[in-house]
Amino acid sequence: MTRPASSRAIDDKGPLRVLLFSASLRADSLNTRLAQLARSVLVAAGAKVDWATMNAFDGPSYNQDVETEQGFPPGPLDLHRRLEACDAFVIATPEYNASMPGHLKNTIDWVSRIRPQPFNARHGLLLAASPSMAGGNRGLWSLRIPLEHLGARVFPDMFSLAQAHKAFGDGGGIADGQLAARFEENLRAFLDLVEAATHYPCIKKAWVEFLGEPGATVGRVEAA
Ligand SMILES: Cc1cc2nc3c(=O)[nH]c(=O)nc-3n(C[C@H](O)[C@H](O)[C@H](O)COP(=O)(O)O)c2cc1C
Repeated sequence: MTRPASSRAIDDKGPLRVLLFSASLRADSLNTRLAQLARSVLVAAGAKVDWATMNAFDGPSYNQDVETEQGFPPGPLDLHRRLEACDAFVIATPEYNASMPGHLKNTIDWVSRIRPQPFNARHGLLLAASPSMAGGNRGLWSLRIPLEHLGARVFPDMFSLAQAHKAFGDGGGIADGQLAARFEENLRAFLDLVEAATHYPCIKKAWVEFLGEPGATVGRVEAA
């Protein structure tokens, strides 16, 4: 099956469409605050933002019997639909036990089963906020693995906000001016790359689960 990396028509030069979500389920989430900040930077830079939190995408533990007998749950189906409608995605995620939260990996597992596989060739930026000094950075490295496995173009620079419980000022922004500027720069650099890839596509690659596997035996191949 052939499909473009983005669902937009080749001559559609409208604003970049970015799906932005916080992967925390918590009402008073630090990651939701960071994602809200990202939203204002993206909108100021001219992007059209589709905003969500993990509550919209969460689902039951992946079970292949359930998939076979009942199909896909609403949360993962919604994430799939909204990924397909965007040019790029941004995730702000908590770090749990030096990795990503189980509910996020579970949702990625569900979505990876839905076709077309929506992470393939889609650009992604990863953000984290944590009270720790490492700012949730290890969680972001673990999140890169399934996303890159699925063909996502994960932006090299990842922003992890350390001591996040003390990092936000009264107006909701990052209080430290240097950090705030770095955050904005990170998001704008990501948008520049997405714009180039969306409006001036020059390379398209197929997603092949294991690149070294002989073609005839591979079931999971999608041209991009
Ligand atoms: C089960 C669990 C494991 C955690 N493990 C880590 C960890 O490995 N590293 C870290 O920086 N924070 C860890 N934390 C603390 C979270 O960073 C903190 O609760 C944070 O506020 C969660 O993000 P949220 O505010 O967006 O929900 C953990 C919290 C929980 C509940």
